[in-house]
Amino acid sequence: MQLTGSHILSISQFDRDTIERVFTVADSMTPYAARRRVTRVLEGAILGNMFFEPSTRTRVSFGCAFNLLGGEVRETTGFESSAIAKGESLYDTARVLSGYSDVICMRHPQEGSVAEFAEASRVPVINGGDGANEHPSQALLDLYTIRSELAGRGRGVDGMRIAMIGDLKYGRTVHSLAKLLLLYQDIQLILVSPKELAMPEEIVERLRMRGHDVKVTDELTESIQKVDIVYSTRIQEERFQSKDEADLYRGRFRLNQAIYTQYCEPNTVIMHPLPRDSRADANELDNDLNQNPNLAIFRQTDNGVLVRMALFALVLDVADQVDKYARDVRWYNASRNG
Ligand code: NCD
Repeated sequence: MQLTGSHILSISQFDRDTIERVFTVADSMTPYAARRRVTRVLEGAILGNMFFEPSTRTRVSFGCAFNLLGGEVRETTGFESSAIAKGESLYDTARVLSGYSDVICMRHPQEGSVAEFAEASRVPVINGGDGANEHPSQALLDLYTIRSELAGRGRGVDGMRIAMIGDLKYGRTVHSLAKLLLLYQDIQLILVSPKELAMPEEIVERLRMRGHDVKVTDELTESIQKVDIVYSTRIQEERFQSKDEADLYRGRFRLNQAIYTQYCEPNTVIMHPLPRDSRADANELDNDLNQNPNLAIFRQTDNGVLVRMALFALVLDVADQVDKYARDVRWYNASRNG
């Protein structure tokens, strides 16, 4: 797959070689993300960061990643503050915004909207989440994290065992991650959700056709006993007809330290795309896990910057020049990596 100048709309665009390339470039971004070095390789470039749904990490980490490469970020957040609120089409918005930017990241509540926008865009567009459909950069950072967590345990992605838990119907992160696992071998997947919120049948079928061992269940404690990764997700309340409907499922699958100790193998990695819903009636990942060294959620968010830096560097074809435009940092920065 050619990344230079390409839109990144679906994880299905990727092959294994391209994933390796992204991860190698992501590794090379560590000194910049850790503020040991500064690079100006994207000096003069502008990222149009357009988020029409709530977002903290994805929006800010795309923005930081671009800043860390020396580029500038222009943000549009929410429909109210955009001309879409005046009836402007995605086509017109894309024609206009792509005249102001070198690359665009976009999140939008409708499935397929980012692809529609990309068709009219004159610059590469990266999908930051389109409705319940896909979230490709999250899948990449999740796999990057899985790989590094498992490497520390003497295991690899091929042959791994993962339980995906929660809202697998509307959760776009699990859709993209499951599709990404089609590139790997002999994966055991346990898909844990209420029956009404099961992983789309089409994805389950593709996983089975690939030869993966897929179990679909609504039982939590059985499912987390023999896995390398527990990947918990939030009930995607905003995709339900009403809050009452979402309430039916909230809090159904909770992981806390006591359950972890009782059921999980030692060193089972705990992941979540975040935000975790920390309200008392939800609490899918309890705060009492915060001291558990296997809780990888903040390593995921840190890795998100590395992976997004790699995507920008590759799409804008500067991956080989990052070090050429670099220098050491001048300010105090010792505490971040503790
Ligand atoms: C996820 C999303 O927006 O799909 N968040 C994220 O980008 N890390 C998951 C969620 O909102 O539950």
